[in-house]
Amino acid sequence: MLALMFAAGGVHAEQWLDEILVHRTPAFTGENPENCLVCHSGERMRSIADGAHGDTEDDRAPFGNNGCESCHGPASIHVSRAHGGKGFPPLIGFGYAKVAAPRDQQVAACMYCHGGSQEGMEVTPFEGTTHDKWIVTCSSCHQVHAEEDPVMTRSTQAKVCYTCHAEQEEGHQKVGRRVPDFSRMGCAGCHKVHRLPKN
Ligand code: HEC
Ligand code: HEC
Ligand code: HEC
Ligand code: HEC
Ligand code: HEC
Ligand code: HEC
Repeated sequence: MLALMFAAGGVHAEQWLDEILVHRTPAFTGENPENCLVCHSGERMRSIADGAHGDTEDDRAPFGNNGCESCHGPASIHVSRAHGGKGFPPLIGFGYAKVAAPRDQQVAACMYCHGGSQEGMEVTPFEGTTHDKWIVTCSSCHQVHAEEDPVMTRSTQAKVCYTCHAEQEEGHQKVGRRVPDFSRMGCAGCHKVHRLPKN
């Protein structure tokens, strides 16, 4: 059968391939995030609705665009009746559970909006900064499924940084005459993570 189709000529073969790809390539569902939350239930998942990303009135925000799929990628196969969530997760996972997309794809998913191509949004520089290293992604520091992202709050920031900078937990060097009080100052007051190095 297969051989026959190809033997019949290039055009047929291409049509056949197109059909398969249409069936295998997920599209955006255009559905409400509630339809994802039916299965991905729980406080943590739901909390995203209360933050900047969950604003349905803001057409720059994920929930004002393709909902959960603005970050996770098209999920039509994932939610299709045939699969019901099994086997074909959305294209972009951030490594928190089982699925991890390649590092550059994870970063690109966030930078799609935070990198300047989204109208009306300030650019948050990352490429070329100290942390633009292959072992670091946005979610090494940020949690988006959280009521409060610990790295954005001074008092809880140091702990996030210590996951990699264990040496500083043992003892940060003195700045001036003393070691800074991190529970009050955090780290980013002095180390601007999203600032390009001066040359
Ligand atoms: C019918 C239930 C169901 C629905 C609806 C559903 N999911 Fe899932 N989802 C699952 C299950 C089950 C898994 C675990 C997949 C596996 O083990 O193969 C999963 C896995 C995932 C993962 C990967 C998690 C990981 O392991 O890292 C993401 C991301 C995800 N779903 C997002 C979504 C989004 C976005 C939607 C809405 C467009 C959605 N899901 C709708 C059941 C569902
Ligand atoms: C569809 C667009 C879109 C995508 C994709 C997106 N964001 Fe956002 N993000 C926004 C908007 C809009 C805001 C609110 C910004 C504002 O008010 O200027 C925001 C705010 C933030 C903030 C600040 C939150 C606060 O409380 O101040 C962080 C941190 C953030 N995003 C991280 C991420 C990360 C990490 C990813 C990828 C996992 C991501 N974003 C993907 C649109 C997006
Ligand atoms: C090394 C840790 C780290 C990494 C990696 C990181 N961030 Fe941040 N990010 C921070 C910190 C800390 C702040 C708060 C800045 C402050 O308090 O001065 C922040 C702030 C932000 C903000 C709020 C706006 C701003 O500029 O303050 C956005 C949006 C954001 N990050 C998006 C991202 C995206 C997108 C990525 C990946 C491309 C990323 N971050 C990677 C630590 C990180
Ligand atoms: C702003 C981008 C963004 C949006 C919007 C978003 N996610 Fe996520 N998702 C992430 C990131 C990043 C992670 C890694 C964990 C974290 O940062 O909290 C993640 C993790 C997950 C996981 C892995 C399992 C887990 O417990 O962490 C699932 C499942 C998931 N998201 C489903 C959803 C669903 C359902 C929605 C819509 C209600 C959604 N996501 C909206 C970025 C996003
Ligand atoms: C996922 C791991 C990871 C996390 C989390 C992390 N960093 Fe880093 N950090 C790195 C890597 C990798 C480098 C680059 C080291 C190098 O080039 O030798 C770096 C470099 C630095 C440097 C420059 C050090 C130097 O040698 O010049 C500073 C300052 C720094 N990080 C601060 C922070 C702060 C503040 C936070 C929390 C907001 C943080 N880091 C979170 C991995 C991490
Ligand atoms: C009061 C300002 C201040 C605060 C707060 C601060 N640092 Fe620093 N940090 C410095 C100075 C100054 C240096 C030495 C000069 C440099 O390398 O930038 C330094 C150096 C570093 C280095 C590089 C060390 C090396 O060997 O090159 C890292 C990594 C670092 N800090 C991480 C952190 C982390 C993580 C936190 C939060 C727990 C933090 N810093 C809080 C000012 C500060």
